[in-house]
Amino acid sequence: MDATELLLTRQSCPRLIAPAPDESQLKVILDAGVRVPDHGGLSPWEFIIAQGEGLNRLGDIFLQAVTENGADEAKQAKAKSMPLRAPMVIIVVAKPQPHGKVPEIEQLIAAGCSTMAMQQAAFALGLGGIWRTGDLAFDKRVHQSLDLSAGDQIVGFLYLGTQAVKAPLKSAKSGSEFARYL
Ligand SMILES: Cc1cc2nc3c(=O)[nH]c(=O)nc-3n(C[C@H](O)[C@H](O)[C@H](O)COP(=O)(O)O)c2cc1C
Repeated sequence: MDATELLLTRQSCPRLIAPAPDESQLKVILDAGVRVPDHGGLSPWEFIIAQGEGLNRLGDIFLQAVTENGADEAKQAKAKSMPLRAPMVIIVVAKPQPHGKVPEIEQLIAAGCSTMAMQQAAFALGLGGIWRTGDLAFDKRVHQSLDLSAGDQIVGFLYLGTQAVKAPLKSAKSGSEFARYL
């Protein structure tokens, strides 16, 4: 797949099955995640990889958070099983640091670029993925369980795996409809 085709055909895949990215594919994905615009070269990110037993641990973290937040049994069961929607979840954490020239928003955007680049890399490798967040991305209990520091933010749960079905290509939007000349 050439780069232009990749850029013009990327789409999310919510139905993901094993196998997860293998070791060499994961290396490409992570390396793509750090080959992104990064003002000041701060590398303001961390990637927490959950697969196998790690997915159950993430489910337990979600379960504990929703339970302590007063969720009913149905919501507890849903939270526990959410990470099992793919054979791998990469939790993309933005770790903005105080900097005279690089405001926090730029560091958050850089971590967002990482998430996108990793999804693109998975796509280029013939895999599928979807970028999710939801309330649990912003939940302090989840942050604590993942040993995040104050100020860290989860910008995405990137679900990765093999596409369960080859989804038809979505129709393309025209970018020029959102553009104007000055
Ligand atoms: C920051 C961010 C958070 C998102 N969170 C969710 C989410 O929690 N659940 C979801 O179904 N889609 C979420 N999405 C949207 C999907 O990743 C996806 O873009 C959308 O389903 C459209 O599909 P497409 O990527 O094929 O155009 C999020 C996207 C972004 C950029």
